[in-house]
Amino acid sequence: MECFADILRYEEKILFKLRTLYNAFGYKQYRMSRFEEYELYAGNKAFMPSGDILTFTGASGRLMALRPDVTLSIVKYTKDDEELKKLYYNENVYRSDGIEFQEQMQIGLECIGKIDVDLTSEVLMLAKRSLETVSERSHLDVSHMGFLSGLLHSETMSVSQKKEIINCISERSSSGLQALCEEYKLSDDLCERLTTLSSIYGSYEDVICKLQNITVNEEMNTALKELDELTNELKKRGITQGINIDFSVVNDISYYSGIIFQGYIEGIPARVLSGGRYDELLRKFGKHSGAIGFAVYLDMLEQFDESEPGAETRMINIALPKGRLGEKAYSIFEASGYGCLEIHEKSRKLVFENPEAGVRYFWVKPSDVANYVERGVADIGIVGKDILRENSPEVYELLDLGIGKCNISVAAEKGFTPGCSDKTLRVATKFPNVARRHYQKQGREIDIIELNGSIELAPLLGLSDVIVDIVETGQTLLENNMKPTELIADVSARLISNKASYKINHEKIVGLCSAVSNK
Ligand code: PRP
Repeated sequence: MECFADILRYEEKILFKLRTLYNAFGYKQYRMSRFEEYELYAGNKAFMPSGDILTFTGASGRLMALRPDVTLSIVKYTKDDEELKKLYYNENVYRSDGIEFQEQMQIGLECIGKIDVDLTSEVLMLAKRSLETVSERSHLDVSHMGFLSGLLHSETMSVSQKKEIINCISERSSSGLQALCEEYKLSDDLCERLTTLSSIYGSYEDVICKLQNITVNEEMNTALKELDELTNELKKRGITQGINIDFSVVNDISYYSGIIFQGYIEGIPARVLSGGRYDELLRKFGKHSGAIGFAVYLDMLEQFDESEPGAETRMINIALPKGRLGEKAYSIFEASGYGCLEIHEKSRKLVFENPEAGVRYFWVKPSDVANYVERGVADIGIVGKDILRENSPEVYELLDLGIGKCNISVAAEKGFTPGCSDKTLRVATKFPNVARRHYQKQGREIDIIELNGSIELAPLLGLSDVIVDIVETGQTLLENNMKPTELIADVSARLISNKASYKINHEKIVGLCSAVSNK
């Protein structure tokens, strides 16, 4: 490869190294030579990281798709026999980032057959070595869907309730878990176990006691035994560092049944590798084999910044929402030992730092805070739960600061009656997703009128029947002859964290959270 070193792009060099690595362990390349019908992907949307599919009409007139995923095809075409298949692929996939479709180069590895602990440890070792091909400063976080589903099986819940709880665990949101447990009337005991599970992060040795304490049934015992055996196998392979247990690593429970994992590299603000045991997908294809694999998101490597200082020396970047809420939040940080005197000076500066305390603050528009954090420009930030509910950013929600309290409610003019449920209700709001979900639960058809402010005007001028909006003191509603008719959710300010940063700067962020939560 040396003779091509000058002409290969960085990602291509990594690609060759990974292919060499997988070949060395006996993995054979799987080539995709054809397109699949749309149906294959449409029927398995929850298995893929992005649900959007780019379609075209094939020569035969059938609806086809530009592949958003390779694993589904491998599973579809692989024989369901005794022989163990060790495959890797290197293909372009077509996925949407929510705005537009992109062509992304992906490399991944799959084992299909009888999956034992030895093979599982080989796959994890290869995942770890794949990350190390990019940088030694990498982290592989492991969890077990069986442990989580065992805990969820300990009390009766519907599938959608389980999904909401799993979502809260993926956000490490203890306040969210408490609210759901209350709403679903789950026991305090289960609530406590779920909260503990969502907070766990550390080496297997560091967290095993906590895991044992929350184990309640055989399903969880079996999962714990598997984690234990896996840790021992990894040790035998010389891997003792850089692997942590983290139950916020979750995946769709209807596809993933056992060990799952995600990889992070310092200097890249999102996960670069994702994988796990997906036997349930094979069952959906009527196959009996087991399966485990992972994909490396090569496009993320474009963001790799080698010059990024190590976790020990870099400052924690904090996005504060401009305005009263941000000022209140800052005073909590200041009282917790993370002050920055310069911030009090009258100026139009937006960035302030205190190198001794290891923090840098920036003032941003309140609705942009979650964006800064999700993209890793800020490690942590302060944001209202209303914005989190509306935009569902991919972040951890670490603390409820108990400030900026208000609620999201449905409100209408006094005397308004919602009418029969077969009439479409016109709803004006700046929270279209929150409103849609609320009325979906009720099975009520609505027409959303998206506005950016002065929402109360909409019913007064006949633009809508009701509004879904923030109510703080209730004064605006009162003075406009309106009243709240349904409470959707309580709101307060939350401390959120970028997921990669939480792992990479774990001690600093946990230290900061614990100082802040004691104020
Ligand atoms: C918010 C909200 C309500 C008002 C509620 O508006 O949209 O209009 O505050 O507060 P209250 O219950 O204390 O009266 P905001 O001040 O953000 O302005 P906006 O109308 O431009 O959205």
